[in-house]
Amino acid sequence: MKIKDPTEVIKLTDNNFQIAIHKTANIILNGGIAVIPTETVYGIAASIYNENGINKIFEAKQRPSDNPLIVHISKLEQLEELIDDINEVSKKMIDHFWPGPLTLIFKAKNRLNRNITGGLDTVAVRMPDNAFTLALIDITGPIAAPSANISGKPSGTEISDIFEELNDKVDIIIDEGLSKCGLESTVINPLINPPVILRKGSIPKESIEKIIGKVVYATKQTANISPGTKYKHYAPSVNMTYIKKIDNPYNFNIIINTLSREKKIGVINFGLEINDNLQNIYIENLDNNPLSAMKLFYKALRKLDKTVDEIIILPLPEHEGLWASIEDRIERGANKIVPVI
Ligand code: TXA
Ligand code: MG
Repeated sequence: MKIKDPTEVIKLTDNNFQIAIHKTANIILNGGIAVIPTETVYGIAASIYNENGINKIFEAKQRPSDNPLIVHISKLEQLEELIDDINEVSKKMIDHFWPGPLTLIFKAKNRLNRNITGGLDTVAVRMPDNAFTLALIDITGPIAAPSANISGKPSGTEISDIFEELNDKVDIIIDEGLSKCGLESTVINPLINPPVILRKGSIPKESIEKIIGKVVYATKQTANISPGTKYKHYAPSVNMTYIKKIDNPYNFNIIINTLSREKKIGVINFGLEINDNLQNIYIENLDNNPLSAMKLFYKALRKLDKTVDEIIILPLPEHEGLWASIEDRIERGANKIVPVI
């Protein structure tokens, strides 16, 4: 019996950068799929012109076929391959945020493959801020690239976290270390007035409003137009509880003491002072600075998921700006939300 070779992993260095780009481009142009770095999280990329590649992405991620993919471009001219027109609001956002972690929804060209858009007449597009992936797309043309993880799991921000999950399902893996942002791009629909944020992400609402004026978050009704938001997301395998507010630290100590007598408890802490001297408790101390907390959040979640029986997320210092994006992922991944103890 022939045992399949493990997928090649290339750790990027100055010396192998060009070779890695050409190797990956070759694979993608021939219908293969590649784990590639972006500034937000790792992606699994295929050419938008290769049906086999697109199908392989859905298989590798076990992703429902009605959940559309984001198309990634490296130059503005490539928009002409995807869409017919751009409105003024979109132009302003492109000028200000691209390359960067903002994904815009456009009306799709008729000839764009509807497997990419999950059957929708709109397409999500972004220009990532990552030198490797921009150079790759210069060669391959636009690529579809969802986050590198099995559907429903937290996105991958470091190759060691997702290697087991994706190793034999992709054709090459490009390792550039920990992703810069750590959370996915913000997805916004500017075809509606005021524009609607369909997915909170690495660019906060407040920064977008400075450029284009009022924008709103999707409600349950408007979220229907972003199929991805209806699925369970960003969840570890073990149970996860989010405690939104601690009024009485004494109560918290009692809860954690009781729980840790029976099982291993993982705690993600955003700068609170807690007793870290307890047996059976594994604490991931993230910063109370939102940029560094965001960068390490998925990594901490994945690490605890491998180690403990249950995860508790402690209160966030704030609920606005990037904290709103982090809180969105916590609330989607949690089985239980405790408003206050
Ligand atoms: O940061 C990111 O955006 C990463 C990196 C790899 O670029 N990609 C990513 O892709 O997070 P994915 O597939 O995991 O998430 C895409 C999101 C989903 O929530 C999906 O429903 C939404 O974008 N989306 C895609 N096309 C859409 C469309 N035409 N209309 C509404 N929502 C769309
Ligand atoms: Mg995803």
